[in-house]
Order: sequence, then C-alpha cells, then structure tokens
Amino acid sequence: MTRIAWASAAPFDTADPDLPLLLEAARRAGLESEVAHWDDTTVAWDAYDLVVVRSCWDYVPRREEFLAWTRTVPRLANNASTIAWNTDKTYLRELENAGVPIVTTSWSAQEGSDLPEARQWVVKPTISAGSADTARWSEPAQALAHGRRLLAAGRPTMTQPYIDAVDSEGETGLLLFGGAYSHAFRKGALLTTDDEPRSEPELEEDIRARTASHEQVAFAESVVATAARITGNTPLYARVDVVPGPDGELRLMELELTEPSFFLEHTSTGADAVVAAVLDELQR
Ligand SMILES: Nc1ncnc2c1ncn2[C@@H]1O[C@H](COP(=O)(O)OP(=O)(O)O)[C@@H](O)[C@H]1O
Ligand SMILES: [Mg+2]
Repeated sequence: MTRIAWASAAPFDTADPDLPLLLEAARRAGLESEVAHWDDTTVAWDAYDLVVVRSCWDYVPRREEFLAWTRTVPRLANNASTIAWNTDKTYLRELENAGVPIVTTSWSAQEGSDLPEARQWVVKPTISAGSADTARWSEPAQALAHGRRLLAAGRPTMTQPYIDAVDSEGETGLLLFGGAYSHAFRKGALLTTDDEPRSEPELEEDIRARTASHEQVAFAESVVATAARITGNTPLYARVDVVPGPDGELRLMELELTEPSFFLEHTSTGADAVVAAVLDELQR
C-alpha cells in the first residue's frame, strides 16, 4: 500500500487545521498517510512513497538544519532545491527580474535614501515566516533602526511601502496544486502601526474564503510557471499571495512553496485537490 507522510513540527501539528482534512482526504483516496515531525530522528523517511512538507513552522531559526533534513528525504514535495530557494525571500528579486511585478522592495536598506517612497514602511527579515520579526513603521528613523537591528544580528532585510489595500480589501492568497488553481482566501491585515515585532510566528489570522478574479488566477498561474522555470520543477503545492499596488495593478507579496497554510476548512474541494496532485506526483 502507498504510504505518505505530512511533515509538521512538534509545537505546531495541533495548531494546523489542514492536517486532519489532509489525512481524511488521503484516506478517501485509498492512501495510507500520517503526520510526522521533520526533526524526529526515529522516523524512517525512506519508508514513505512521498513526504509532503506542511506545518514546519519552526524552520526559520533552524534553517540550515531544516534544509539538511530536506536533502535526506528521498521523495519530498516540494523538493529540497525548491525549498532552499523559497525559504529566502530574495527569490522575489529573481521573479522580478523574470518579469513578475512584486511589491516595491528595498533590500537591506541602511540610509534614508534607501527607503522606498511611502507613508509607512514594512521591515522584515528576508528569511522569515508567520510575520515574525516583521513590523510596520510610520517614521523613517524607526524603519531604519529596525532594519539595522536585524542586520546587526546577521539577518538581511527587506523594506517595502505599507500597502494600504491590505487594510481595506486584504491580501488575496491563491492555492495551486500540481500547477492548477484550487481556491482562494482573504487575509486581513496583521500589522499595527509602530508596534514592536513579535518573535514567534502568528497563528491567529483573520481568514475568509474569497472568490478570486480571473485576473488574480491568471497572475498566480504565471507566477508559478515562472518559478517552475527558475527551479526546474512544477511545485506540488504553491500559494501566491497578492495585493493591488498603489497603481491598482496586482503585485506579488509572497510565493509560498515551503510551509503555507492551505486554509482547507474554507473550501469543500481543496483537500481532494491536494491529494489528486499527490497521486499525480506518485505516478511520475
Ligand atoms: N508591504 C506590506 N504592506 C502591507 N502589509 C504587509 C507588507 N508586507 C508584509 N505585510 C503584512 O505582514 C504579513 C507577513 O508578511 P509576508 O511578506 O507575507 O511574510 P511571511 O508571511 O512569510 O511572514 C503579511 O501577511 C501582511 O499582513
Ligand atoms: Mg505571508
């Protein structure tokens, strides 16, 4: 019988509402599946026909260890090189160079002249998840000080204009499985102005189902196709988080190919779509 593992992390598997839905969908499709912790040294990863990375939300402070683990798993989705590429947000630069419109970003800004034109700024480490160590500032001096603290700790940064549409229409996340669009959601704003950043990932997010526009779906498909060209692999799962820029045109905020929540409780077909993509992957 085919066996697959959904890889999570000890502190987070009970906080991930996708996991029970994935276990159930796999069972419906006749697949044996279970949750395993990526850093559990007693797990025989080569005993699985496929290991799917899910809520490994503790990888940021342990990135080298996590990437080393991805290289030891014989059949991993998304694959190790995709995850190495995607866990550092400098991948956005490569996508931008390949023609994808991204949120305007200044990399490791140190001086006022490095800041993008904006009313408020968001500063985040290039290696970050769950909006940890990410903050929104109304004063250039605060944005620069936050960036310098991160840089002094050896963490390259990104500084972006705060996208006001996040407060009104929210972010739109689109899920694609096997490169095909599945469903979308709306995420409410997470950052309050001039608040010190949290050091832990945020688990309480304001999520609602959303019907994506044709334009958003086409945008997400083209982002994933571009990433597939760069990494040489169509990802089993991808989440494309988009916002309208100041000009109203769509911009990429983040392409999640590592540990995105799928928000399967907001769709009746999403979990089966993941398992269909898993079955396709097993056929290859
Ligand atoms: N430029 C921005 N404008 C508005 N909100 C932002 C911006 N950058 C980040 N945020 C907020 O911070 C959250 C986390 O940032 P994101 O780039 O998605 O990284 P991650 O989810 O990996 O921590 C976003 O979901 C959004 O709420
Ligand atoms: Mg995000």
